Amino acid sequence: MNKFLEAMEFRHACKEFDNNKSIDEEKFLDILESGRLSPSSMGMEPTRFVIIENTQLKEKLRILCWNQVQITSAAKVVVLKTIIQSLIPPSNYVDSISFRRGKTKQEREAWIQRYGNFLESMQAKGINVENWGQKQAYIAASSMMNCAAYMGIDSCPIEGFDIDGVNQLLGFDTFKESVALILTFGYRIKEQQKRYRLNLNELVEYR
Ligand SMILES: Cc1cc2nc3c(=O)[nH]c(=O)nc-3n(C[C@H](O)[C@H](O)[C@H](O)COP(=O)(O)O)c2cc1C
Repeated sequence: MNKFLEAMEFRHACKEFDNNKSIDEEKFLDILESGRLSPSSMGMEPTRFVIIENTQLKEKLRILCWNQVQITSAAKVVVLKTIIQSLIPPSNYVDSISFRRGKTKQEREAWIQRYGNFLESMQAKGINVENWGQKQAYIAASSMMNCAAYMGIDSCPIEGFDIDGVNQLLGFDTFKESVALILTFGYRIKEQQKRYRLNLNELVEYR
C-alpha cells in the first residue's frame, strides 16, 4: 500500500481526543499549508481558516456543535469559513485574483466575464455563491485531514452545528462570510472504530 493510502487508512473520524496532548506547531503549520495549497474552482481560494484557541470560546462553540466533545478535547480547532460577497464581481477581490489570470486588461476583463457567467450558471442550478464557496472548503478540509493523518495526527470534521449560532458567536457578517465546516485535530484517546465502506465495484462504473 502506498504511503498516502496508509495515511487514509489511519484517518478516521476521531470521536474524542486526548486533551493532554498538543500538536507540534510546525506540524500544525503543515496542516494549514495543505489547506492553502488545495485546489479551488476558478482558483478563487474562498476558504479562510479561523483557529479557535480561547477556552471559553471553545466551550461556547461546543454547545453550538451538538455538544460534541471533539471541540473541547481537540488540540486544535479550525473553523473553515467561506468569503461570500467579495466573490461576486465587480469586487476588489475578484480584480486581484484576475491579475494572476491575465497580463493585459483585455485578458483580465475576459476572464472576469467568464467567471461571472459561470457564477450565473451555478445560480441557475440553485447553487448560490455561499454554497459554491462551501464546496471549496470541503476540498481544503480533505487535504488537511489527510495531511494530518500522514503525520500521525487524528482529526474529525464537524458539520453537526447550528450555522446561525456559529456565525453569530464568531461575529461573522453573513453578508460577507459564513462558516462552512469545522475541523478538529489532536491525538486519539481510544482505538479507531471498525471502518465501513462499500466495495469499489459498488461505487465504480466504466463506460
Ligand atoms: C462533511 C462531514 C461532516 C461530518 N460531521 C461530523 C460531525 O459533526 N460529528 C462527527 O462525529 N462526525 C462527523 N463526520 C464524520 C463521519 O461521520 C465519518 O467520516 C463517517 O462516518 C466515516 O467514518 P470514518 O471517517 O471514521 O471512516 C463528518 C464527516 C464529514 C465528511
